[in-house]
Amino acid sequence: MRISIEQAAELLLSGKIVAVPTETVYGLAAALSLPGAIEEIFKLKGRPCSNPLIVHLANVGMIEAFIRYAPKGFFELTKAFWPGPMTLVLEAKVENVPSIVRAGLPTVAFRVPQHPLARKLIEVTGPLVMPSANLSGTPSSTNPIHVESDFGKDFPVLDGESSIVGLESTILISIDNEWQIIRQGALSSGVFKEVLDYEPKIRSANQKEAPLCPGQLFRHYAPKAHLILEKNFLRVKDSIILGYSDRYYPSSNQIMYLGESTDPSMIANRLYSTLRLLDQNKVAQAHLDIDLPNGGLYATLLERMSRAAEAS
Ligand code: TXA
Ligand code: MG
Repeated sequence: MRISIEQAAELLLSGKIVAVPTETVYGLAAALSLPGAIEEIFKLKGRPCSNPLIVHLANVGMIEAFIRYAPKGFFELTKAFWPGPMTLVLEAKVENVPSIVRAGLPTVAFRVPQHPLARKLIEVTGPLVMPSANLSGTPSSTNPIHVESDFGKDFPVLDGESSIVGLESTILISIDNEWQIIRQGALSSGVFKEVLDYEPKIRSANQKEAPLCPGQLFRHYAPKAHLILEKNFLRVKDSIILGYSDRYYPSSNQIMYLGESTDPSMIANRLYSTLRLLDQNKVAQAHLDIDLPNGGLYATLLERMSRAAEAS
């Protein structure tokens, strides 16, 4: 059910959950000050309570009440990338952030989204926690139809049209005065170099030590359809291929186009919708073309694609 920004604010302030557009993906919002509503988000998504939530702010000034200090590089990063698809994990004034949001951690993740409706809403409601608006484990929602397909036609959605980025924010944490990427996302590691003078290391979820980003432990971004990652399609016959419009595939196959292979932003924009379309069409199996370069945004795309292909 599509609702206005006034209705969204009223629902949130009365302890309800509302889907809210952001430029990355749609979020499932609850007011930071209402732990009962936040608990409801975990239930609704089927999300483990060991997976903390991102606190969304309308502007960087709002962060002061919640963090103990600003690590080196904080001002440069926020000046360059907020509002936008960057999330920073910071040491929290824990008394001001309910434990359920932090999953008991001493840190909190923060983001100032770029989408004007999201920020306008937060100006009225105050900080909102927002995980992606999808059932836990499935591809994130990038438009209101995705949200309604996961949570039902009557679920309140603030309609902000399709998310322009289509991939989640990049998450960074500062360790020993150096920022590291703990979830790859819409901003690739290279773009931070200009601001920090170094390229943040990407901590892989497969490292032996416990990942710093709890969400990386869980199954993610996966459709019900079985995905086969493929670089060579010569022998692929009578199948469904998720591929690129500037490439040729054997003609016995049905092709679903993610855009041109040279345009990673377009592929990002279409990836989750296309994965969701497979399930909508009850497709049991599809081949996904991963013959892509590995720099910049492609690195995030390849990470999401391989996660999407992981069996449950
Ligand atoms: O683009 C996005 O970030 C979207 C939109 C709605 O803003 N949100 C999003 O939220 O992707 P979610 O809940 O789907 O993913 C948040 C990730 C999880 O992997 C979680 O483990 C991690 O952020 N996270 C949250 N708080 C953390 C913390 N204190 N330390 C480390 N990781 C944290
Ligand atoms: Mg998510």
